[in-house]
Amino acid sequence: MVFEAYIGLHCDELSTPALVVDLDEFEWNLKTMADACRASGCGFRPHAKSHKCPEIAKRQIAAGAIGICAATVAEAEALVHAGINGVLLTSPIVDYEKVRRMVALANKPGTVLLAVGHLLEARLLSEAATPVGKVIDVLLDLDVGDRRFGAIPGPDAVALAENIDKLPGLRLRGIQAYSGKSAHVAGFEARLAHSRERMGLAAACRSELAAKGLDMGIFSGASTGTYNIDPVTVGLTEIQAGSYIFMDTEYRLVGSSGGSSVYNDFRPSLKVIATVVSAAHGDCVTVDAGIKAFATDSESLPEPFRWPGVRYRRFGDEFGHLTAETGASLPRLGDRVAFLVPHCDPTVNLYDRVYAARGDRVEAVWPTVARRES
Ligand SMILES: Cc1ncc(COP(=O)(O)O)c(C=O)c1O
Repeated sequence: MVFEAYIGLHCDELSTPALVVDLDEFEWNLKTMADACRASGCGFRPHAKSHKCPEIAKRQIAAGAIGICAATVAEAEALVHAGINGVLLTSPIVDYEKVRRMVALANKPGTVLLAVGHLLEARLLSEAATPVGKVIDVLLDLDVGDRRFGAIPGPDAVALAENIDKLPGLRLRGIQAYSGKSAHVAGFEARLAHSRERMGLAAACRSELAAKGLDMGIFSGASTGTYNIDPVTVGLTEIQAGSYIFMDTEYRLVGSSGGSSVYNDFRPSLKVIATVVSAAHGDCVTVDAGIKAFATDSESLPEPFRWPGVRYRRFGDEFGHLTAETGASLPRLGDRVAFLVPHCDPTVNLYDRVYAARGDRVEAVWPTVARRES
């Protein structure tokens, strides 16, 4: 079935499990982030690792994003080929083939940037760019405590920045620092303190490098959990938040600046729709969405939407169980049940398309990309 054939269908007519984005909630999130960035004077370069979807990236650009982040070379390629400018690869690459692919993408100034946290990557990039006469924009990538990748702020990072600045074919434009550990700290004040401490390491390093005359114009980082923290506390110049566009049950737990224990700055827009395929036992029913339909990395579980008192339990590859608290009603055989997803990024990665629905009707079908390639 070609994608056009789905347009206008009622969501209940889709084969399940189906990944659906509620366009009203999605557009609300899109606008809320854009308005917040406008108000704080901070740019935003949202992360495509959450949606892997050029159609969504185009809408983020139309809302005012200065570019889009990518986690893999394949994501960066898909975004550039879809006409997106300002694609920042936030992950390290240290093999020549991936470096060559990134340099090949840099056809016009501003098409791509890379966050570089190691001299090996800087050298490989310089060696690939110089013979073809290209100049690649680079951010110094800093590890502010995640122990994932990036240079440690201090003498190592300063030496790396000075080396990048001297290498032919590279142009240092600033720094990247991402504190994943801050993103999910529960309670706004605790999250603010955590992020200020971690991102403060990057800000100090940035000042030191700027004092040496290096271009530190860009300070890129932040997440959905800290979008309203880092621009204020450490002078971040662009926000890389990804999950805000969909939200998930994990993020709902972190609490908002308004004091709510539910993080309600953004609205859950992403759902998986499943069907009750068995109701043989009185105390539970089976739905056709199991561990192949939802990410399982999180302690949070899929949350039945608009089924108060009904709980989901994992029940194998293709199926899940629903049980009901006393007094709550279980759905019946054949009923559709929508679920809020536990962790949006790896859930999206399980689907080759997102049905974009207004109310109950499919308005568009958006392919996801770069799910298998690296
Ligand atoms: C480098 C980087 N930037 C931004 C993000 C976006 O974070 P979030 O989805 O929590 O907004 C991530 C997520 O893992 C990331 O790795």
